[in-house]
Amino acid sequence: MYIFISGSISLFTLLLFSPGDIIPPDSILHFDVLLLDVWNPEDGVQSNTYHTPSTCSRKVEVSDYVRYHYNGTLLDGTLFDSSHTRLRTYDTYVGIGWLIAGMDQGLLGMCVGEKRIITMPPSLGYGENGDGSDIPGQASLVFDVVLLDLHNPRDGITVTNQFMPESCTRKTVAGDFVRYHYNGSLLDGTFFDSSYSRNRTYDTYVGRGYVIAGMDEGLIGVCVGEKRTVTIPPHLGYGEEGTGSKIPGSAVLVFDIHIIDFHNPSDKTEITVTHKPEECDKPTKKGDFVKYHYNASLMDGTSIDSTYNYAKTYNIVLGANQVVPGMEDGLMDMCVGEKRHLVIPPHLGYGERGVTDEVPGSAVLVFDIELVEMEEGLPEGYMFIWNDEVSPDLFTEMDTDQNKQVEPSEFTDYIMRQVNEGKGRLAPGFDPYRIIDNMFSNQDRDGDGKITEAEFKLKADEAPHDEL
Ligand SMILES: *[C@@H]1O[C@H](CO)[C@@H](O)[C@H](O)[C@H]1NC(C)=O
Ligand SMILES: *[C@@H]1O[C@H](CO)[C@@H](O)[C@H](O)[C@H]1NC(C)=O
Ligand SMILES: *[C@@H]1O[C@H](CO)[C@@H](O)[C@H](O)[C@H]1NC(C)=O
Ligand SMILES: *[C@@H]1O[C@H](CO)[C@@H](O)[C@H](O)[C@H]1NC(C)=O
Repeated sequence: MYIFISGSISLFTLLLFSPGDIIPPDSILHFDVLLLDVWNPEDGVQSNTYHTPSTCSRKVEVSDYVRYHYNGTLLDGTLFDSSHTRLRTYDTYVGIGWLIAGMDQGLLGMCVGEKRIITMPPSLGYGENGDGSDIPGQASLVFDVVLLDLHNPRDGITVTNQFMPESCTRKTVAGDFVRYHYNGSLLDGTFFDSSYSRNRTYDTYVGRGYVIAGMDEGLIGVCVGEKRTVTIPPHLGYGEEGTGSKIPGSAVLVFDIHIIDFHNPSDKTEITVTHKPEECDKPTKKGDFVKYHYNASLMDGTSIDSTYNYAKTYNIVLGANQVVPGMEDGLMDMCVGEKRHLVIPPHLGYGERGVTDEVPGSAVLVFDIELVEMEEGLPEGYMFIWNDEVSPDLFTEMDTDQNKQVEPSEFTDYIMRQVNEGKGRLAPGFDPYRIIDNMFSNQDRDGDGKITEAEFKLKADEAPHDEL
């Protein structure tokens, strides 16, 4: 016979009410006793930590909000409840009466990742009456608990593990646009998302509500190249709802972030002169043909391109939209031999789209440039100018076969001769034959492929400062 007893009192109770007529007088009684539960009114909560995490930056305190998994058993090992059967953590405040007294006490001092057995007498559990059909009255309870998450509703974000770059001339302010990489995990280390898995940075304005409040705050005051861990309580993250599958409700989020670059939409090209030659009497201006070397990279040092790879300079006409606006800015007012460091914001660079496989969208560009050579341009609007006085008899001079009209070949030969003899100058940096073709078409008013003296005069009278 097994007698299931619970508590020391029960044994006597049972003996008193034993049906006397079944047990003959003077019988020797044998009790085969299985002790199911035992407690003392003096008992408190017992906590027994059987796994301690390697780091513990914070322990549960009164009024904290926690998420944990548990298996609840009676003292004899009978399972009466488990959070695992519901496939979600049990989420609650601690120490303010949301829980049975034994749990309110037993969870205090726990670290995220810690595992504990919390044992309590019925007075700190469900008392005389128990709870439903699973927890009998006067039952001691044993909870096997693992703490997964912990925060306090008063918490702000916390910033830890800060790694600062060697130099930091500027920190983000609200309204800046930031490109950063991140790894996102929960407090217990469960990974939920990473920008690296998409091979591209996360790009956003900061301080304007485009990202969760905690991240908006964590991205203020950062330097390019900085790394930090931003821990975000749920009320500044995804709240009680979470995001469905990836982020559980009421979860604290831990983001390891790395700032790749940032800029402000009002930024201009930042120009730092790194070497100025002693002699500099002809600074570059619009229209000049410039030859320069560059090393281009991103703010994180990733090299994009360099003229040194091709062993030749890059040549452009300033102000002719041959390079991004930031580079135009950076090459102005520069002397041959001068070196500059340019930081070009994306709106003056390759914009939101970038350049496929070379420049990421919205990337800030860094150029180190050196002006190697320059050829002065013509005054604005001119593609050809005379260095000397213009011959009074231009038409006749051009019309070498004297047939009273100037054909394209005569025109071209004539202009090229003036250029070669130093009497005239074509705008540098363009194909001379294309310029001359244009000049010819300009004079050839009726478009018949030849210029008559009348056409020539007309054009010259109309626009005395034009090309011829
Ligand atoms: C509870 O039981 C489940 C299933 O047996 C087990 O995986 C888990 O480790 C146990 N303990 C806790 C604290 O959840
Ligand atoms: C990211 O880049 C790596 C290496 O270049 C490549 O193997 C991977 O497929 C890329 N992933 C995505 C999502 O583009
Ligand atoms: C994110 O995780 C990857 C892989 O573990 C690591 O290489 C990278 O440095 C991490 N990034 C940050 C910002 O912590
Ligand atoms: C570009 O890089 C090369 C190699 O590191 C260096 O020799 C050169 O001076 C750099 N050019 C400029 C303009 O900074």
